[in-house]
Amino acid sequence: MELALTNVTKRYGKLVALSDFSMTFTPGIYGILGANGAGKSTMMNLITDNIKRDGGSITFDGKEILELGDKFRAQLGYMPQQQGVYAQMTAESFVTYMGRLKGLRGKKLASEVNGVLELTNLSDVRHKKIGGFSGGMKQRVLLAQALLGDPKVLILDEPTAGLDPKERVRIRGFIKQLASDRIVLLATHIVSDIESIADEVLLLRRGELLRSAPPAELIAAVPDDWEPVAYRLSLEDVYLYFLGE
Ligand SMILES: Nc1ncnc2c1ncn2[C@@H]1O[C@H](COP(=O)(O)OP(=O)(O)OP(=O)(O)O)[C@@H](O)[C@H]1O
Ligand SMILES: [Mg+2]
Repeated sequence: MELALTNVTKRYGKLVALSDFSMTFTPGIYGILGANGAGKSTMMNLITDNIKRDGGSITFDGKEILELGDKFRAQLGYMPQQQGVYAQMTAESFVTYMGRLKGLRGKKLASEVNGVLELTNLSDVRHKKIGGFSGGMKQRVLLAQALLGDPKVLILDEPTAGLDPKERVRIRGFIKQLASDRIVLLATHIVSDIESIADEVLLLRRGELLRSAPPAELIAAVPDDWEPVAYRLSLEDVYLYFLGE
């Protein structure tokens, strides 16, 4: 399984939000790091076809995703950066609604909804309204809907934003669990989340892919004399060294 972006470009007027971006993803967890405005969400929105690209191609197993259309969408799970406001819906009704949008029906829909609510530990609160949920529970509802239909490609845009450490570690654990035989793209500002679960890290700067490598390789790429480093380098230091401006 392979998702390949080749020379993908997205512009907003004069601003180049993503510039000539090429990367081939195979099963595993890819952490996407970059400052605010670096192009992380843009890259994800291009894969989910929420926005139109200005150039380049995106293929899934060799076929252009725009031509695959629904066939690709059926393989795709997306957790958007912003929390949707579905305060009046219950967890179950929201996830069911998203499942219908994905084309699931009847018994298949019901069993998928049960499965993803179970997986994200929401079974007990399935009949409660989302409006009364904590930030972590809301994030789990969004993760649940992304998992409907057992997608092969999972796009998670800041899934742990605004969560306390305990809830964050929990969500991180879910994501790690899910990764086998899936392509998982994970954008976040919480570098430690990526350090602990990503197989490969992409560093994005002003719309350009600066580097992509396993965390340990990036850590090794920071020169020893960069700072008086009296401690073991972490991916946090990699971020500051490469993207710190
Ligand atoms: N609809 C839009 N119209 C104009 N400019 C946009 C639009 N969406 C994004 N941009 C610009 O494109 C650039 C990349 O934005 P993007 O949302 O991809 O960044 P990001 O890396 O996800 O940032 P963050 O960490 O804040 O989520 C930014 O300069 C942003 O202002
Ligand atoms: Mg973003």
